[in-house]
Amino acid sequence: PLTTTGELVTRAAAARAAVASFNVITLEHVEAVIAGAESVPAPVVLQVSENAVRFRGGRLLPLARAAVTAAEHADVPVALHLDHVQSEALLHQAADVGFSSVMYDAARLPYAENLAATRAAVDWAHARGLWIEAELGQIGGKNGRPPLDAHAPGARTDPDEARDFVADSGVDALAVAIGSAHAMTTRTAALDHALLKQLSAALDVPLVLHGSSGVPDGELTAAVAGGITKVNIGTALNVALTGAIRDFLADRPEAVDPRGYLTVAREAMTRAVARALQVLGATIA
Ligand code: G3H
Ligand code: ZN
Repeated sequence: PLTTTGELVTRAAAARAAVASFNVITLEHVEAVIAGAESVPAPVVLQVSENAVRFRGGRLLPLARAAVTAAEHADVPVALHLDHVQSEALLHQAADVGFSSVMYDAARLPYAENLAATRAAVDWAHARGLWIEAELGQIGGKNGRPPLDAHAPGARTDPDEARDFVADSGVDALAVAIGSAHAMTTRTAALDHALLKQLSAALDVPLVLHGSSGVPDGELTAAVAGGITKVNIGTALNVALTGAIRDFLADRPEAVDPRGYLTVAREAMTRAVARALQVLGATIA
């Protein structure tokens, strides 16, 4: 059934566990995430990023409708989340399409601008009952130096700045930069567990790990033990999808029916989802 991200995150936090949130681009991603979650079984978040919406011609509604319908018919709780939103116009569509949460991403901006933009997004989201996540990951954002991209491998969230940011913005969860980076195709990221400990002591909101595809299993479970409550996974599904299609077509250069390669692609993504949920120890509690 369709549930809310806030509900899943609150339950995970109470159990000192984490909820996995998977990025979906196609209908096959949606089906694979739900099938993987049902096979464990575990609750799951389906997230659609602004980049994915751009890929779909700027239209959120068709994929959102499919995801909501799939969630309603799932055997496990499924929540819908709008991910890495920079556009206000897209942010404002979230509530109308069945999404219960958004990640508003102004982390590229200098601190004061990130805070102001995030606070406006929080006011808007809370007025509509939406759970909202934001991101603070710059270093060198002060002293007039330009901020690092929030997910550059060297970027780190400063605990004192994060405490002020959470208090002043009113966000429900914070994405933190502790060593992961987006779009890694190998699991080789090293997380800064000492920093995570400081962040988790300084902040009373759930912490979110982005770029989790590049994080080794042991690092991931240590991060959850250290206070990460939402784990975002995207690229691992695309590695599985593309690898399966590449192998399928290499063996069958004459193939034309997409159902052949999309079937193996969806199965490969389903296995990747189940694997991630098993690493996280996710269960229906
Ligand atoms: O918000 C999305 C996640 O941070 C996904 O990152 O594609 O590197 O796993 P990833
Ligand atoms: Zn991310």
